[in-house]
Amino acid sequence: MTVPYSKRMQGYGSDFIKEMFAAARNPDLISFAGGAPAPELYPLDAFRAASDKAFEEWGRTVMAYDGAEGIMPLREIIANERMPQMGVNVGPEDIRILSGSQQGIDFAARLFIDEGDTIICEYPTYLGALNSFGAFKPSYVSVPMDNQGMLMEELEKTLIANPQAKLLYTVPEFQNPTGITLAADRRKRMVELAEEHDILIIEDSPYYEIRFEGENIPAIKSFDTTGDRVIYLGSFSKTLCPGIRLGWACANFEILDRYRVMKEASDFQASTVTQYQVATFLRDNPLDELLNESRRVYRGRRDAALAAIEEFFPDNVEYTIPQGGYFIWLTVPGVNATEMFLPAVNDIGVAYVPGESFFAAADQSCNFRLSYSQMTEEKIREGISRLAKLLSSA
Ligand SMILES: Cc1ncc(COP(=O)(O)O)c(C=O)c1O
Repeated sequence: MTVPYSKRMQGYGSDFIKEMFAAARNPDLISFAGGAPAPELYPLDAFRAASDKAFEEWGRTVMAYDGAEGIMPLREIIANERMPQMGVNVGPEDIRILSGSQQGIDFAARLFIDEGDTIICEYPTYLGALNSFGAFKPSYVSVPMDNQGMLMEELEKTLIANPQAKLLYTVPEFQNPTGITLAADRRKRMVELAEEHDILIIEDSPYYEIRFEGENIPAIKSFDTTGDRVIYLGSFSKTLCPGIRLGWACANFEILDRYRVMKEASDFQASTVTQYQVATFLRDNPLDELLNESRRVYRGRRDAALAAIEEFFPDNVEYTIPQGGYFIWLTVPGVNATEMFLPAVNDIGVAYVPGESFFAAADQSCNFRLSYSQMTEEKIREGISRLAKLLSSA
C-alpha cells in the first residue's frame, strides 16, 4: 500500500532525535548526545510525596478535565515565583500551560507560518524548532552570533533585507546547541528592532534557571514594555524533570487565546494529574534548593569537560564556555562531525550530536554539540579523551 502522507509530513526532520534518545538510553555509551537533566537529580521521593498529597487535598478534581488554560495553582506559581526570576512581572492570566515548551514552538509554527514565510533565527539554532517549523515550509534567514549571542547589527541588516519576516526565534540562555547567552544590552535592542520592523519574537528559554556562573540577565520579555512583541516559552523539563511534560507560554492575551484554541485542537489540555502533582511539589518544596544542587553538579561537569578539551584536543580546536545549561559547542577544523558519528558510537562508545543538524541550511560539518549534563566527571574526561584520539586519527 502507498501510505497517503500529507505534503506537510515531508517537512518534518530526520530521525536524529530518535537516535539521540536511543544513545542516551544505552548504558554502555558515554553519551554527550542528550540535552536532558541528570536523572540522579530528579527529586524522586519528594515528588512521590507531593503526588500523594495532591490526590489527598484535591481528590477527584485531579483526575478530571480542567481546561486548556492550565490549572490556576500552577499558573499562580509560575507568575508569582518563576517569571519574576527572569525580570518579568505578570499575573496567572498571562500564563498558559503547555505539554512542554516544544508544544509552544509547534503552536507558534501553526499560528504564524504559511508556506514560504520567513523565520529569522540564530546560526546555528535548536534542532527541535527546525523540526516543528519545517512542516510549514518556511524559509529561514540565519543571523550570526559571537560569544555574546546574536549580533544586533546583523539582525538589523537582516530585518531591513527581509521586511516580510514574521518571526524571530531565539534561545537566549545557554543556547541549544552552542551554550551561548545573549547579552543584556542586545536583548533590549532586539525588542526595539522588533518594534521598528514589526516582527514577533519567540523567546525559548528552558535553561534560564540552570545558571551556575554570573548574574541572571533579564529575559527579553522583560524589555517588552507593550507586552505584544515577545512570546516567552518556559519549561519544567530542565529544572524538575522532562517526563512530566509541562511548560508554559507567557504572552499578550490575544496570542494566548489563540494558544488556547491550538491546545484545544491538539490535545485539549495538559494532564490535570501532572499539573496538580507539580503544583503541590512546588508549593511544598523550594525549587531553588533543588536548582542549587543541580547548578553545583552541572558546573563541575562543565569544568571537567572544558579541562578535558584543553588537555586532549590540539590548540586549533575552538569551543564555547557556557555559564549554565548543558552544552559546549566544539569546532574541530578539517573534521566532518556527521561522518564521525557512527565510528564514534560503534568503535569508541562515545555519542554526541553532529553540528550539522542545527543549521537551517546544513552547510557546517566541523561542529560537535557536547552535552555534559548526564555524565559523571570521570566519564566526561574519558569520553573526551577517546573522542580526541579518534579525531586525531581521522
Ligand atoms: C531550546 C529548547 N527548546 C525547547 C525544548 C523542549 O523542551 P520541553 O521538554 O519543555 O518540551 C528543548 C529541549 O531540549 C530545548 O533545548
